Order: sequence, then C-alpha cells, then structure tokens
Amino acid sequence: MKQDMIVILDLGSTENTVIARQIRDLGVYSEIHPHDITPDELKALNNVKGIILNGGVNRVVDGVEIDVNPAIYDCGYPMMAIDHAPAKCAEKYDTLPDEATVKTFLFDTCKAEANWNMKNFIEDQVEIVRRQVGDKKVLLALSGGVDSSVVAALLLKAIGKQLVCVHVNHGLMRKNESENVIEVFRNQLNANLIYVDATDRFLDKLAGVADPEQKRKIIGGEFIRVFEEEARKLEGIDFLGQGTIYPDIIESGTKTAKCVKSHHNVGGLPEDLQFELVEPLAQLFKDEVRACGVELGLPAEMVYRQPFPGPGLGVRCLGAITRERLAALRESDAILREEFAKAGLDKKVWQYFTVIPDFKAVGVRDNARSMGYMVVIRAVNTIDAMTASIERLDYDFLEKVVARITDEVKSVSRVCYELTPKPVATIEFE
Ligand code: XMP
Repeated sequence: MKQDMIVILDLGSTENTVIARQIRDLGVYSEIHPHDITPDELKALNNVKGIILNGGVNRVVDGVEIDVNPAIYDCGYPMMAIDHAPAKCAEKYDTLPDEATVKTFLFDTCKAEANWNMKNFIEDQVEIVRRQVGDKKVLLALSGGVDSSVVAALLLKAIGKQLVCVHVNHGLMRKNESENVIEVFRNQLNANLIYVDATDRFLDKLAGVADPEQKRKIIGGEFIRVFEEEARKLEGIDFLGQGTIYPDIIESGTKTAKCVKSHHNVGGLPEDLQFELVEPLAQLFKDEVRACGVELGLPAEMVYRQPFPGPGLGVRCLGAITRERLAALRESDAILREEFAKAGLDKKVWQYFTVIPDFKAVGVRDNARSMGYMVVIRAVNTIDAMTASIERLDYDFLEKVVARITDEVKSVSRVCYELTPKPVATIEFE
C-alpha cells in the first residue's frame, strides 16, 4: 500500500467526518469504520498505523451502550479515545483534541507518514480492486454523473476490459449528455460500454402521468428493470461497481446513526440477481471524488458539472411529459448552460437550469397571435441543498438568454426568472 491509514471507529459520534477530514488535512489518509470491526478486518486493511475511538451522543443504541470488539486492544495499534469512548487506551480526551495533539498522535505515537494524496489513493484502490475482483467481471451503471464517471475511470484503470459499463438513456438526459458519455468512455478511454436507448420505453410509460411522485416512481422503477434486463443478457458477472461516496453511507444510516434517506443507486435488483459490491469511492467526500476524477484524467466538464437529479429532465418538464415540451426544455436548458459558460457563471453558480410548465401562454410571432410555452429560469446557490438563495443575474445577461431562447426555440413564447429562495420553494419544481 502506498499510504498509511488511521482508522476512526464510529462509536456514535456525529463528528467522525470532522476528525477524518482533520487527519486528511494533516496529510494522513483516514477511514471511518464501524465500532465492532474485528482484528482480522483491521489487519486486512493492510496499512493501519493507529486507531481513534470516537464516542458521542449516539453511543447508546436501543438502550445498550455499544463497545468495540475487546480483541482489538491486543493488536498492538496505538489508540486514542475521544468523548465518552471506552477507557482502555493510553490517550483519552473529552473533546476534539487540538491540532498539535492530533499531530503528535499521528506522527510521533503512530509514526504515520504524511503520504495521503490522490495519486497514492488511486494506486491503493487499484490494488484493492484487483485483489477483490481477480479475473472476474464487474458491471457498472454509468449515468454520466460525477460519482459513476469517476468510479468507471478508476475501475477501468484497475481492470480494463473486465469492466462492463451500461449507460441507460432514459430520454430525460440533457442535450448531448449521453453522446458525451459515449465519446469519453467508449471512444477516448476505450471502455467496454453498452449503450441502451430506452427513450421510447420511458416516455411511453410516462405518457399522461402528471403526479410528480408517480413520475419519479415510474422513472426509478423502469431504470432498474432496463438495467436488470441488460444484466441478465450478460454472463459470468460476479461484481457490481457502485459510485457510492461517503455522504451516501451517512445518509443511508450507519450502525449508530439513523437513516436520513435511502440510498437509491441500483438498490432494487431482484434476489436472484445479486452481486458482490465494488465501491472504491466509499470513503471519499464529494470534493475528493472530483479531485480523484481530475487525477484520472476525466474532462473538467464531467468532474465539475452541476448536480442533476436522477429523474433528469422528467422533474423539470412539469406535469404530464410530452415530447414537444421535453424538446423545448432540453434546447432552452442547453442555451442557458452555454450562456452561463460563456459568462464564466458556470464556475460561480451552484445550480442553474430551465423548467417548462404544462400550459401555453399567448404571444405574437410573425405579426400573428400564437400560443407558446413558457420557460422558467432557475439559478441558485447553496452549500448543502437544504437551503438555497437566488443568484442575482445581471439584466443584460438575462435579456440575452431570453432573446436566444425565444429566437431558437420556436415553441416558446415567454421566459421568466424565478426569484423564490429555498425555503419557501425547493430547488426543483417537482
Ligand atoms: P430540492 O428540489 O429538494 O433539491 O430542493 C435539492 C437538490 O437535490 C436534487 N434532487 C435530486 N437529486 N435525485 C437526485 O439525485 C432526485 O430525485 C432529486 N430530486 C432533487 C436537486 O437537483 C437539488 O440539487
């Protein structure tokens, strides 16, 4: 292994990630593991230099105070305990220790080296994946989002043609998105990529469905069915690659923290189609995933792209989706994104997109009354998507976008700029 590791054992603290980041900031790789890790599991991590037992508010689970596996005290790893963690180790603190104390623990007590960087992380993960997978094959649903793209690039480096990527185009992708996935992964990186254009299938299922929850259910359910059908056509696949990242694990609940929301990647496959998971990014935070993508040579547009919901344009083509409105939405969104990039706003604004409501408004084209769609522009800034503020777009900029959209998308008669922060509004409209 290229890099040393400090293991943080999760004994119900809400600060595990703060400590992990603090240690990584000091140049030492750290991973968070469940409190009941066994000595064998610790040894299998190969390069553990020390352990931090991190207790906290959630240490009592169902009335029982959780504890570490006592056998780990005899493994010879230096240990430090924080905040109501078990007392059986030499160093014990009631609160987060200051930087000097952490440094002394890392570099003097554990004799760890400050060798955490993306290059070393990738080399270690490549070795771990090769060891896990051997000469078997890994299947991966490649949506083109940041996480699935980075995991694809990493697995490609580790196992090349043993990786089989499936890209399902549900017909709700943004303009040129599927084409870019094919260009980067099949043409540039020479990946084994199966492209499934399921546009008709999705749009037929969605025809006439106006309820937002129902639309989301149809898109999610159909996605799993299409992926399952592709998986069944392939033979001899034992592993499923997933772009799970650390925040997904926290949100799905750990042994000490309750589930915030269930993690929805490809969780719904039937019993007889179960694979062993390969999740090389599971310990990374979002900014680290992006840095990993850059180190692997992925294009910046792919690594730094704005968040895009799983149901795609489906939740921005409001009400019952029609192909005509969907086309107008896709074109107007492409224009907006192009203008954002030209003005350098793409690096400044967190999320920006267009939405198309399901009604027409009157307008004038070629000196005649004509009914057209209305396009809504949304541009927001946020840190965690729980609250969001409006980007104060310049009027000249907005007028330019309005002119382009009404000029180039003939079915549109009006463009509005939406000014409601979250709360009261949400970022998406459905
Ligand atoms: P809201 O609309 O809840 O959105 O303020 C917060 C953030 O989450 C994104 N979003 C989704 N992402 N699947 C996703 O992967 C979804 O179903 C979904 N719905 C909303 C939204 O784009 C925003 O960034």
